[in-house]
Amino acid sequence: MGKVVSFMNNKGGVGKTTSAHSIGLAWAKTGKKILFLDLDSQANLTSMLSETDPLSQEWEQTIEDAFIMGPDGNLKDFVHHTSNPLIDFVPADLDLANFEQDTVRHRLSELLLLDLLEGVRDDYDFIIVDCPPAIQKLSYNAMVASDYLVLVSSLDGKSYKGLQMMVNVYNEVVTNKRLNPSLKLIGFIATMYQRDKVNQYFWELLQKDFGPLVIQPYIRKSTMINRATSFDMSIYDIDPKGRVTEDYLRVSQNLLVRIMDDMAHSGEERPSK
Ligand SMILES: Nc1ncnc2c1ncn2[C@@H]1O[C@H](COP(=O)(O)OP(=O)(O)OP(=O)(O)O)[C@@H](O)[C@H]1O
Ligand SMILES: [Mg+2]
Repeated sequence: MGKVVSFMNNKGGVGKTTSAHSIGLAWAKTGKKILFLDLDSQANLTSMLSETDPLSQEWEQTIEDAFIMGPDGNLKDFVHHTSNPLIDFVPADLDLANFEQDTVRHRLSELLLLDLLEGVRDDYDFIIVDCPPAIQKLSYNAMVASDYLVLVSSLDGKSYKGLQMMVNVYNEVVTNKRLNPSLKLIGFIATMYQRDKVNQYFWELLQKDFGPLVIQPYIRKSTMINRATSFDMSIYDIDPKGRVTEDYLRVSQNLLVRIMDDMAHSGEERPSK
């Protein structure tokens, strides 16, 4: 059964989408079958995967349509394929901003994503969820539906605060038996590292506060990422031998090993291949 991995921070612009995208693609390169799920109405992940401009693209079947359908819907009907048979995605668009109003008639709307995922879990090794920069019902949906939570932060005070807020929400979710006591905070990823005192301070603080949960190495700041995201390309295509590409490949591998070890310890089968 596929594992659901959510990428989160309450702060915007810290590298959540870049990390979710780059890590999912790296796992697909090792033969894992990946479903990307865009849970952000900005639809950045959708445009990275579809290579179309989200402003001109009219999606007929988005994650919001699945949410409107409710717990009896099957996410399979909302999956879009890419040219890579190992990579599928469920798109988002601006309509997702109406999530709270659109789902008000469904009871227990924190559980909607969990129910919707039931129909696709067996088709993938990993379902990667890119979350919005906010603590709202959508973020709770992601936490309730996930097996693993990855917190992403750039190395500055505001991002760190956003991270701490997410840790508090995580603690709330795992201590509430109606939410998700088995959710595991599997790691922290530090992004956009540059050599200065502020970055060095928060990199050390992250390791002091969260120790081995910090995934090595930090992702360095690079204009190549900006170039890749601006043109909806992956860093592996735009800069295959670059240093930030190397950082993401190492982080992807380390995160995968961590998840596989956790699954082995929980007595579960490893994903195929
Ligand atoms: N390592 C990096 N070096 C340089 N720029 C980066 C790096 N990682 C991300 N960026 C840039 O920072 C911006 C924000 O990245 P991204 O969209 O991944 O963040 P996010 O947390 O998903 O943002 P949001 O909260 O708005 O969804 C993008 O323009 C991206 O190109
Ligand atoms: Mg994003």
